[in-house]
Amino acid sequence: MNAAEKKVLLVGATGEIGGLAARQIAGYGAATALAGRDPERLRARGAALGGRPRRGFDAYDLDGCARLAPWAREALGGLDAVVVAVGVAAFGASADVSDAAAEHLFTVNTLCPMAVVRGALPALPRGGVVVVVTGEIVDRPPLGMADYAATKTALATWLRVTGREARRDGITLLDARPPHLNTGFTTRAVAGSPPAPGSGADPEEAVRHHVVLPLLRALEG
Ligand SMILES: NC(=O)c1ccc[n+]([C@@H]2O[C@H](COP(=O)([O-])OP(=O)(O)OC[C@H]3O[C@@H](n4cnc5c(N)ncnc54)[C@H](OP(=O)(O)O)[C@@H]3O)[C@@H](O)[C@H]2O)c1
Repeated sequence: MNAAEKKVLLVGATGEIGGLAARQIAGYGAATALAGRDPERLRARGAALGGRPRRGFDAYDLDGCARLAPWAREALGGLDAVVVAVGVAAFGASADVSDAAAEHLFTVNTLCPMAVVRGALPALPRGGVVVVVTGEIVDRPPLGMADYAATKTALATWLRVTGREARRDGITLLDARPPHLNTGFTTRAVAGSPPAPGSGADPEEAVRHHVVLPLLRALEG
């Protein structure tokens, strides 16, 4: 598969999934622009890919989230696709999760990706593609993760409807639902701790299978 001359924005490029997707997509020949929160990791990831355009953002700045795709189009001289891999976990019985944690989860996992996509739709041409990482949890929500599952399920529903609307403009929205992966994601939870250190799938292979190859196939039309 060849993505030469394609221009792709990675939102959450400082994370494990976003970082792997950026490297793999660049490996297929695409030009990438990187957006992330941690400035040092963002700089390092850009440098590792030969010096890519990069931009910092925080999920709480929804206007800033919406401006990422227009920025990338300017920085890359066009834009064909956007990948969104931003998120944070929380654990605990519903009664024990604070409203503050729930608000944080919905902001990072739901409102931020929605704002990124809202900003991306007018910035993409016909044939453009957006991939948003939700997760297998949408189909199989476990006990002790109601709030996290709810943020992802809300996002998945929004993507489903928005995807039907975007189809009219020739834009494809994909909802990527990888299983639990060994990225250390659960260790960075904003509340509670994971029930048992269950082993996850190999991130490299899962990112290729759930994110990168579907993106490239959709770009090929
Ligand atoms: N790992 C899994 O098992 C798994 C499975 C299915 C789906 N997912 C989903 O995949 C996505 C990425 O997960 P991952 O495993 O790559 O986790 P990760 O390495 O922890 O990456 C999380 C990403 O979200 C960003 N982020 C967190 N809070 C933010 C905020 N307030 N503002 C802006 N960015 C923020 C992080 O930015 P910084 O690093 O710059 O702080 C990082 O880029 C998440 O949506 C997750 O729900 C993960």
